Amino acid sequence: MEYTVKSGSPEKQRIGCVVAAVYAPRTLSAAAKTLDKASGGLISNLIRRGELEGDLGGTLLLHNVENTLCDRVLLVGCGKEKEVDTRAFRKINSAMASTLKSSGTTEVASFLTEIPVKRRGLSWKIQQSIEAIDETLYSFNQLKSEQKAPRRPLRKFVFSVSGRGQLAEGEEAVRRGMAISTGIKLTKDLANLPGNICTPDYLAKQAMTMQKQFPRTKVGVLDEKDIESLGMGAFMSVTRGSRQAGKLITIEYKGGDKKQNPVVLVGKGVTFDSGGISLKPGAAMDEMKYDMCGAAGVLGAVSACAELQLPANVVGIIPTVENMPDGMASKPGDIVTSMSGQTIEILNTDAEGRLILCDALTYAEKFNPDVVIDIATLTGACVVALGAHPAGLMGNHKPLIHDLLKAGKNSGDRCWELPLWDDYQEQLDSNFADMANIGGKGAGTITAACFLSRFAKKYHWAHLDIAGVAWSSGKEKGATGRPVSLLVQYILQRIADNRN
Ligand code: BES
Ligand code: MN
Ligand code: ZN
Repeated sequence: MEYTVKSGSPEKQRIGCVVAAVYAPRTLSAAAKTLDKASGGLISNLIRRGELEGDLGGTLLLHNVENTLCDRVLLVGCGKEKEVDTRAFRKINSAMASTLKSSGTTEVASFLTEIPVKRRGLSWKIQQSIEAIDETLYSFNQLKSEQKAPRRPLRKFVFSVSGRGQLAEGEEAVRRGMAISTGIKLTKDLANLPGNICTPDYLAKQAMTMQKQFPRTKVGVLDEKDIESLGMGAFMSVTRGSRQAGKLITIEYKGGDKKQNPVVLVGKGVTFDSGGISLKPGAAMDEMKYDMCGAAGVLGAVSACAELQLPANVVGIIPTVENMPDGMASKPGDIVTSMSGQTIEILNTDAEGRLILCDALTYAEKFNPDVVIDIATLTGACVVALGAHPAGLMGNHKPLIHDLLKAGKNSGDRCWELPLWDDYQEQLDSNFADMANIGGKGAGTITAACFLSRFAKKYHWAHLDIAGVAWSSGKEKGATGRPVSLLVQYILQRIADNRN
C-alpha cells in the first residue's frame, strides 16, 4: 500500500473514502463536525437516531454524502475521547481497515490523525496506523493454487494533518512506518512458510537476497563443516538428527560509526521442532514450523534498519537447524561440549533451542558487541506464564532491560521482565556434566534463560522469549511479525539517545 500525508479539509477530498472519528457517547470529532455541517446535519441526524454510538471499534459507512467530494464517508467509533490509549488507537485502526477492506474503496483519506492519544504525537499515530492497517490487510496465500486477490484492493492511503507545518514530520513517520511494516511482512511470510519449504538452507538464501537488496549489508553462511570446526558441539548435536543441513547465518548492517560496537541480535532458527527423540505429542505439532520466528524476526528487524539506512551498526546471527528424531539424533543422557568449552548433559532433546543458541552466543563475542539480544520461541512455559500479550524478558544488564521495556511500551510490542535470579541456577545441576539442558519442574522460562546466561557472561545481554507472541493459534493461525517493531524501536531509541 502507498501511504502519503496531506493537509486539507474533509469535505474537499476528491477520493473514494474519507474517514472521521466519532467519540462515545455520540460526539463528533472536528472532521466529523465539518462533514456534518457540509451535509446539512446528516451525520448528527443519523447519530441521534442511534446508528452509531461511538463505542470503540464500531463503524458506519455512508454513501453520497451531500456537498462532499468523496464517494463515501466512514465513521469510526473511538470510545470516550479522553480515554483513547495505545491499545484503543490500534483497535480503531483495525476496525477502520477491516471495514475498508470489504467496502470496495481503493483510495482513502483518514482524519483519525486528529484523535488525541494519551502521551502520543503525530509520528507515533501514523507509524502505529500503518502497522495496524497492514496487519489487518495481511494474508498468506502464496501456497494456494487459486489466488483470490480482492477485485478492488485498497491501494492508496492518505493521512490528513492539520497544517502544512506538519507535513515533514508526517512524511518521516510514513517512511518509518512503512519500513517497519515491510520488515514485519518479511518476518510473517518466512514464518508462515511450512517446514518443508522454509529449511535452514532457505533461510540462508533469504539472507543472501537481503545482501543484494541492501548495499550496506554483508551476509555470511557457515555450513556444518565450519560449525564443527568452530567446536560448536551443542549446535551439532541438534542438527545431526536431520537430513537438512544446519547453517549459521550472519548478516551485518553497517550504518553507524566504524568505531561503534554493534547491537547483535541472535535469532533461534529451528525450522521445524519435532522434539527429536524426546518426541512432541501430535496435537498442534504443525505449529512447530514457527520455531524459527526468532530468526525471521531478526531478518525483519535488520531489513527495516537497512531500508531506513539508520545510523547504527546491527549484526544478526541466526543458528538454524531442524530438530528431528533419527539414528544420528541425540539421545537423552548424551553429553556434548559447547564452543565455550562447557559440557552439557542433554536430558531432553526437545530443549534444543538453547543448544543452538548457546553456541551462537559464544560466537557473538567476535563482533565485540555493545549489547546482545537473543530472540527465541524458547519455552512453552512462557505461554503459560504470560500468554500472548508480552514477550518474556530477562538479562544481565539493568539499563538494557529498561531500554527494551521502554521500546515495548512505545511500539505497543511489549515485553515483561521475569526474575533471572541466581536462586534458579542450581536447577540446571548435573551429576555428569557442567550443566543439564533442562531445569526440571518450575520456572521453565527462567531456567532456560539461566542456561543461556552461562554463555553470555562477556557482554551485556538480554533474552526475549517470544513463544507466546510470535504467532496466533486457532482459526486465525498465523505469524504476528513480533518482535520486529520492538527491536527497531529499541534501535531508534539508541539513535535518539546518541548511542548509535
Ligand atoms: N520450541 C519449543 C518451545 C515452544 C513450545 C514454543 C510450544 C511454543 C509453543 C522448545 O524447543 C521446547 O520444546 N521447549 C520445551 C522445553 C522443555 C523440554 C524443558 C518446552 O517448552 O516444553
Ligand atoms: Mn523443542
Ligand atoms: Zn524449539
